Amino acid sequence: MTGQYTHDYTKAWSEHIAEADAFVVVTPEYNYTMPPSLLNAVDYLHHEWNRKPVGFVGYGAVGAARAIQMERSLFSSLNAMPVGPAVTMMGVYAPLEKAFVAEERGEKAADRMLAELQVWAQALKPTRNL
Ligand SMILES: Cc1cc2nc3c(=O)[nH]c(=O)nc-3n(C[C@H](O)[C@H](O)[C@H](O)COP(=O)(O)O)c2cc1C
Repeated sequence: MTGQYTHDYTKAWSEHIAEADAFVVVTPEYNYTMPPSLLNAVDYLHHEWNRKPVGFVGYGAVGAARAIQMERSLFSSLNAMPVGPAVTMMGVYAPLEKAFVAEERGEKAADRMLAELQVWAQALKPTRNL
């Protein structure tokens, strides 16, 4: 929270997030909530998330819809801006491990999410100097 980081891996993570204007979180769901590894990674930092938009792509039985709701709350608490449209890939598990072809519904949802992310990225960037 202070930005006074000791470990090299925290400094590298901080620089990586600080230089970004927007984020897409790709998330599974564990026990109806977000993966603890994601919460841990987010919690390492604080001001780096401030006034930046976040979009979500979920996969799993219900497209990680419940995890995404928790993640919206998490990022809101860090004064980040969760965008409304999200991609929920229902019935898709660990999509990176096998060939994956997106459905038209998913592609349209991704287009909506990315468009909103761009709008908010442009709108919020000047406010980070205030
Ligand atoms: C302990 C545990 C709890 C899980 N809970 C959920 C769940 O609540 N909802 C869901 O859709 N999938 C659930 N899953 C399935 C995982 O989300 C699924 O295996 C996913 O592909 C894991 O992605 P990852 O390997 O990228 O972390 C659970 C799996 C485990 C091992």
